[in-house]
Amino acid sequence: MPVITSSAPGKIILCGEHAVVYGAPAIALPVFQVSTKTTILARPFALAGSIRFVAPCIDLYSDLDALLENHPLRATSTLVMQEMGFSRLQACEIRIHTSIPIAAGLGSSASVTVSLARALSAFHGHPLSDEAVNRVAFEIEKLHHGTPSGIDNTVITYRVPVYFIKSLPIEHLTIRNPFSLVIADSGTASLTAKTVAGVRERWLSDKDRYETIFANISNLSREVKRILEEDDLTRNAALLTRNHELLKDLGVSTPALDDLVNYALEAGALGAKLSGGGGGGNIIALVNGSQAESVARALEQHGAARTIITAIPPAQGI
Ligand code: MEV
Repeated sequence: MPVITSSAPGKIILCGEHAVVYGAPAIALPVFQVSTKTTILARPFALAGSIRFVAPCIDLYSDLDALLENHPLRATSTLVMQEMGFSRLQACEIRIHTSIPIAAGLGSSASVTVSLARALSAFHGHPLSDEAVNRVAFEIEKLHHGTPSGIDNTVITYRVPVYFIKSLPIEHLTIRNPFSLVIADSGTASLTAKTVAGVRERWLSDKDRYETIFANISNLSREVKRILEEDDLTRNAALLTRNHELLKDLGVSTPALDDLVNYALEAGALGAKLSGGGGGGNIIALVNGSQAESVARALEQHGAARTIITAIPPAQGI
């Protein structure tokens, strides 16, 4: 009985979130310490098209037909079927497990979609190309987040550091000098759809002010790209803290995220910022490798629900 497994990583945004929705560049990195794993088992005695989802991580145990058509798991299955040129799917059980905290800015939704799309297409003997997986995942991100830029699905599909500008071909980033990041979870879930919609509302009511902030973030991301490729971000880590200030101006930080950023800096981080949609979720702190453990412990003592230390560029880990 065939069993197919596929994994997809999480992600962080190094700089440029939110502004990227308005056409600014942003930089995202895959995070392999967290991941989603999808396992598909054939059900040879079940009717064709009879598909069962078992996804304890989102407390979902359901037949595909019982899900609404725009439920992300059902919509992913339909899009994968269309991408393969099939008119129906084979009977199977699809088990999804993710270690990525949900609604924490680490790309859980895109990771689930990418791992499901890969597993489902491989199970049907028709593995989709990265381009097709990314297309499917972008459509599903729209269901989750309304008006996503596409950065999350892109970095998770391609599993490499990316310099991303909406609607342009993706650019892989080569990082000249390695560094480490501490990722610290505030423990508060926050839906990206909500923070993205909040920024849109404020932008519509004061375009000049918000477009100036987007332009400042845009310049900052361009500078970070140059530094990553030619120089050493540890010597320029204050740019990340500056990005946090600009995200505060956009109204997507919270006192808890600001506190974690400040505690990280007090504990010796070279720069720190919220990462992802904000309103909760994670911060990232750039550290010299030797400081990573002590910064992580300090953040946990100050209330971080959990921390992850990750080396950049990331080693492919899943
Ligand atoms: C979420 O990881 C990044 C945001 O910029 C939303 C998006 O780009 O789709 C907040």
